[in-house]
Amino acid sequence: MSQTVETSRDLAPFLNKAERILGPRGLTRDPDLLDPWLTDWRGVYKGEALAMASPASAEEVAALVRLCVDHDVAIVPQGGNSGMCGGATPDSSGRQLLLSLRRMDTIHTIDAESLQVTCEAGVVLQNLHEAAERESLRFPLTLGGKGSATIGGLISTNAGGTQVLRHGTMRAQVLGLQAVLADGSLFNGLTPLKKDNRGFDLKQLLIGSEGTLGIVTAATLRLLPAIGARRVLWAGLASLQRARALLLHCEATAAEAVEGFEIIPAYSLAAVLKHIPGSRAPLDTEHPWHVLIELVADPSGADQLQDLAERLLASALENGLIDNATIAANDAQAEAFWLLRESISAAERARGPAVQHDISVAVEKMPDFVDMVTARVEERFPGTRAIAYGHLGDGNVHLHVLAPPGSLWGEWQKTEGKPISAFVYDCVTEWGGSISAEHGIGQAKLSELARLGDPVRLGTMRTVKKALDPLNILNPGKLVPLAPEQSTP
Ligand code: LAC
Ligand code: ZN
Repeated sequence: MSQTVETSRDLAPFLNKAERILGPRGLTRDPDLLDPWLTDWRGVYKGEALAMASPASAEEVAALVRLCVDHDVAIVPQGGNSGMCGGATPDSSGRQLLLSLRRMDTIHTIDAESLQVTCEAGVVLQNLHEAAERESLRFPLTLGGKGSATIGGLISTNAGGTQVLRHGTMRAQVLGLQAVLADGSLFNGLTPLKKDNRGFDLKQLLIGSEGTLGIVTAATLRLLPAIGARRVLWAGLASLQRARALLLHCEATAAEAVEGFEIIPAYSLAAVLKHIPGSRAPLDTEHPWHVLIELVADPSGADQLQDLAERLLASALENGLIDNATIAANDAQAEAFWLLRESISAAERARGPAVQHDISVAVEKMPDFVDMVTARVEERFPGTRAIAYGHLGDGNVHLHVLAPPGSLWGEWQKTEGKPISAFVYDCVTEWGGSISAEHGIGQAKLSELARLGDPVRLGTMRTVKKALDPLNILNPGKLVPLAPEQSTP
C-alpha cells in the first residue's frame, strides 16, 4: 500500500460508501461469512480483511476501485479460492479489501458458429463445461479444481491443467477480455479480432498477472466442437524415461488424437486410493510409474478410436515401453481413472506435512531431471521423500517433498521446508527451468522469484506494475517482488 496509514476510524466513511455502491448483498464484515475465504486452499496462508465486497457488475467493480483509490485501500481479488500460492489471500493487517468475483457468474452468449463464449469472471469452470456441452461444444481446459475455480481466477493465473499438451494454457483460450484497471477505468476488450496490430496486447499482459495489474471482470473464450469419441488409457511402466518414449510413440502413432498424458508414481496412486473411499487401481499389477493417456476423435474418426487405442498399447507393449495397460471400458470408468489423477493434490494434502513445487524444464530433459532432483533432495535432507507427478508432456511436474514421518507441520515447514524449496529451485534454475510452471507466484514464491529471477525481467515487471498501478492498490505483495533496495531494511 502507499505511504498513508489510516486509522480504522477513518475507514468508516469508506465502508459506508462501498455499501452504497454495492448494495446490502454486496458487502459483508460478518466473520462467519468472511472466514472461509481468508485461508488459501492449501491452508498455508491465513489473512484478515477489512470486509468482503461481492460486486454484481463490472461497473460496480470500477466504482469500488475508484473508492479504494480515494481511501487508499488495497484490494485482493478472489475467484474460487483454489489457488496454490496464496495469491488470493489477504495479508494479516486486516486493512485489505477482499474482492470476490463469485457473484458475477453469468454466461452471456455461446456462439456455435464463431466457437466463442462470453462470460463473467465468476463463472465456475465446471459450469462453463456443462453450458458448452449443452450446445454440443466444449471448452478445452480442465483441472482438478474445476468445481470451484472461476474463469477470472483461471485467467489471472494463466491456469494450465491436463489438456495443455494439445490445447495450451489459458493464454491460448482467451480471445477477449474486460478488466477494471487500478484507476477504476474499464478496459473493454471483449470483442475478438483475428488480426489486430494496434500495439501492446493488454489482454495478454493481464493474463497471468494475478490481479496485480487489473481485475478481470469478463472474457470471451474459444470453444471447440464436441468430440465424437474418447478413450482413456492407463499404463504401468518402469521409468520416466520410458514414459517419455511412450509419449513420443503416442505422438507418432496417434498424433492429434493425444489430448492428455499424465504421470503418476506408485506412491501417489496409493495415496489417492487411500483418500477416495471405494476407489480401485486401474491395473492389478504393481508398477513404479503409471501413465494416464486421453485420446479423442472428432465424429468422423469416432469409429476408429478404439482400434487406434488398442494398436497403440499393443505396439507399446511389444516395444517394451510399458509393462501392462488397460482401456477404460466406458465413460464412468474413464471418469474414475481421471478422478485418481485429479485427486493427487488433495490426497497428498491430507496425508501430512510436505512442501510442494510446481516446476518445469525442457520437455526432453524432464525424466533425467526428476531422477536427479529426487535423489539429491532425499540425500541432502535425510528422511524426506520426493515425489513427482503430473504433466510430463508439458515438461511440468509437481514435485512434493514429504516430511520425515512424525514431523510437525508448522515447525518442519519453518526449519526444513524453506531450505528444501531453495535447493529444489536452485536445481531447476541450473537446468534452465521455471520455479513456477503453472501455479503462479502469489505470495508463496515471491522471495524465490526475487532471488532467482532474471534481473532484467524482474526490473521490467516492476516498471510495468508501477506504471499501471502507481498506488500499489491491486493485490500488493503478490507476484511482483520489491526492488532489492526496498526489500532489505
Ligand atoms: C495438478 C495440480 C496440482 O496438476 O496442478 O494436480
Ligand atoms: Zn498441475
